[in-house]
Amino acid sequence: MPKILVIPGDGIGVEVTAVSIDLLNIIERKSGTKFEIEEGLFGGSSIDAHGIPLTDEVKDKALDSDAVLLGAVGGPKWENLEHSLKPESGLLTLRKELDAFANLRPAIVYPALVDASTLKKEIVEGVDIMVVRELTGGIYFGQPRGIEPIAGGEQKGVNTLHYTSSEIERVARVAFQIAEKRNKHVTSIDKSNVLESMVLWRDTVTELREKEFSHIELEHLYVDNAAMQLIRRPKTFDVMLAGNMFGDIISDEAAQLTGSLGMLPSASVGNKGAIYEPVHGSAPDIAGQDIANPIASILSLSMMLKYSFNMDKESGMIEQAVKNTLDKGFRTADIYQEGTNKVGCREIGSAICGEFENL
Ligand code: IPM
Ligand code: MG
Repeated sequence: MPKILVIPGDGIGVEVTAVSIDLLNIIERKSGTKFEIEEGLFGGSSIDAHGIPLTDEVKDKALDSDAVLLGAVGGPKWENLEHSLKPESGLLTLRKELDAFANLRPAIVYPALVDASTLKKEIVEGVDIMVVRELTGGIYFGQPRGIEPIAGGEQKGVNTLHYTSSEIERVARVAFQIAEKRNKHVTSIDKSNVLESMVLWRDTVTELREKEFSHIELEHLYVDNAAMQLIRRPKTFDVMLAGNMFGDIISDEAAQLTGSLGMLPSASVGNKGAIYEPVHGSAPDIAGQDIANPIASILSLSMMLKYSFNMDKESGMIEQAVKNTLDKGFRTADIYQEGTNKVGCREIGSAICGEFENL
């Protein structure tokens, strides 16, 4: 039986994940596929219970599962802890332990939400981008790192950016493979005009394309220019490939094109398992009020069915159920516009479940 570890985490992570689990129960019943579902504590909730953001027990359960469904982690309560005890550090450890090196973040502008974007309709209409972000290397993990005292009573903060050619190649391969099933266009993002690690990035991506993917079009952009082009001509992008930190930034920007971070799912895939999580954070300011948007979590579940369990049909049905629900005017506060029906997290969740049942 396929195993899923559910870790709702903190803040709105708890509410949005609950909706996805309701939907998963319906999917089990409709598809006849049973999942073994376990739950674990993670992030701030694990710090409160055990003093650390990720216990060995939860880590082992994650390694033992076929897929992890994550909510969100973090919040002001745990912000001032020592670096290694912060919720965020638990998330980075989990990604690293599962060797989930390729982070897929689709940014799609739904026709029903085209006016929710802060950009003009004609710029964002039809945008459909897949950001592929390297997730287990780069400056997030490079050594040396830390803050150390130096002469004159000063301190020095250090982080290190390095990539090996094999780290670049494996994530670039994922990007090209995804592009093969889409519009056959990859934009690789770097800063090779300044950073040697990014010269290697550009050369490695170019070589891989020549060797294995000459039928895919490859464009290189410096990250500053990419940030600009992404709001200038978003429709021209198909797959955007970037290292860990640039991918973090570019994927938030791509998310904003769609109107709300509340809509964006992600999949982190690699060698020892996979993590599916909304791109949004724990949003402590709105947590516990039943106003969060569960669609990012629901679409993360859809990605899980597709990438971890080859259930393309059910995955597509989830997307369709979300579209139908939006078409019928249901909106959470983050995507609300006049003339639509503003509802809470649970209510839009049950509307989506209802649409799914009826497909
Ligand atoms: C993300 C988040 C994380 C990251 C944080 C919470 C550590 O911003 O998943 O994009 O920087 O990777
Ligand atoms: Mg981020």
